[in-house]
Amino acid sequence: MTPQMIHGVLVHFPIAFLVGGFFFELLALIFDREWLSRAALILLLMGVIGGAGAIITGDRASGNLSGDEALSQMVETHATMAHMAIATAGIAVLVRLFLLMKGMTGRRTTLIVFLLALLSMAFVLNGGRIGGELVYKHGAGISH
Ligand code: HEM
Repeated sequence: MTPQMIHGVLVHFPIAFLVGGFFFELLALIFDREWLSRAALILLLMGVIGGAGAIITGDRASGNLSGDEALSQMVETHATMAHMAIATAGIAVLVRLFLLMKGMTGRRTTLIVFLLALLSMAFVLNGGRIGGELVYKHGAGISH
């Protein structure tokens, strides 16, 4: 399996978990239930772990990529989006853990984590869109 193939498999985990985490944060905000916040925390944590795998394989996949300056720029933007997505999700996990440990669970605290999860989802979806363009529009990593 090439690094590109492994990257193509692993990217689904952060995308799915971070979108799922966002939806559970939204539900936690609407219904104000602690178990929803805990479920969101687990999903976001899985997103961070899956995202670390996607970042490591992405770095390897970009290493043996041949292409012009414009393609390299796109890969760089794609990687920045990926790092931002995982960083914001990581902060959301740490903030939620801190709040749970302090017994702070109300709507106002949920709003902070919800906004971080929203940001993370926006980054991962935009990064994923650019990743798709890299492959399906510019043929990055395609062997002929
Ligand atoms: C949260 C982390 C990441 C996600 C969700 C993600 C997502 C994606 C997606 C959806 C694709 C298209 C794959 C396909 O349809 O087969 C892709 C391709 C690509 N990504 Fe990422 N990516 C991530 C991190 C990175 C990083 C850090 C790099 C490093 C520069 C990178 C480099 C690439 C490259 C070179 C391609 C095109 C070749 C290939 O498919 O492997 N990615 N990425």
